[in-house]
Amino acid sequence: MTDASRDPVRVERRGTIAIVTLDRPERMNALSRATVERLGAIGRELQADSSVRACILTGAGDKAFCAGADLKERQGMTREQVREMLGLYRSELAWLASSDFPSVAAINGVALGGGLELALACDLRTMAEPATLGLPETSLAIIPGAGGTQRLPRLIGEARALDLILTGRRVGSAEALHFGLVNLVVPEARPLLQATLDWLTPLADGAPIAQRAALAAVRAAARSPLEQGLAFERDQYERCLESRDREEALAAFAEKRKPLFRGE
Ligand code: COA
Repeated sequence: MTDASRDPVRVERRGTIAIVTLDRPERMNALSRATVERLGAIGRELQADSSVRACILTGAGDKAFCAGADLKERQGMTREQVREMLGLYRSELAWLASSDFPSVAAINGVALGGGLELALACDLRTMAEPATLGLPETSLAIIPGAGGTQRLPRLIGEARALDLILTGRRVGSAEALHFGLVNLVVPEARPLLQATLDWLTPLADGAPIAQRAALAAVRAAARSPLEQGLAFERDQYERCLESRDREEALAAFAEKRKPLFRGE
């Protein structure tokens, strides 16, 4: 049973890190229209809050990160409504890869179809050891429609992406790590969210201006020819050169102490 009045997505803060949780475990955290719209609204709120240093996206419960499109809702949709959903995936989830802060998918359970595409829309991924990932769309007579055919080959290469997309097979955490599909695999005995927060500590303690500049520069690499990317990197370096934090880092080094970055 799903309760339509319940918020499909929860947001909480741990210091400067926002935790966004898909909260429909009874439907394996599948992406209903309301869920996607809520994710978009949350993205707009977080982007307007300059204190956010990173965002973790995860799923409620231990079974699913997200089982993709809500297939029960999808069954009652017209073709036009399905087309609208594809547009919504694009408009409402774009913030995951364009905000000033990095987004991290903490894959706590199965991530299938749109669920894996959601994780691929994030900058980084951690994964619970027992979780599995897959793009089963072609076995449902469709193709990944929320960026999967474009982001997966960019991340793991064309041959590996074709393997996963054309067979629809699921991969476990060891293979996902080997492919570079996830950055970190967390053993079952350790809570994934805490392990992800611990992993992000250096980022949350780092120099904010440099973090933002580095994120923008690395993201630019995927969409720019080398010369243009190098020019962009130069511009981003300039942002750091002018910062007080850079002077603080040099002073702290000379004084053999930890720097205190203020984002200035
Ligand atoms: N949309 C809507 N409901 C979903 C769902 C989805 N994508 N995936 C699972 N659910 C629902 C099931 O219908 C079931 O609800 P019910 O008890 O009311 O029937 C509940 O979640 C639990 O799922 P169940 O299949 O019983 O659990 P499981 O542990 O055996 O398997 C999955 C979990 C995710 C592997 C399996 O449900 C599955 O393959 N789902 C479809 C995933 C998919 O193909 N997504 C791609 C869409 S393009």
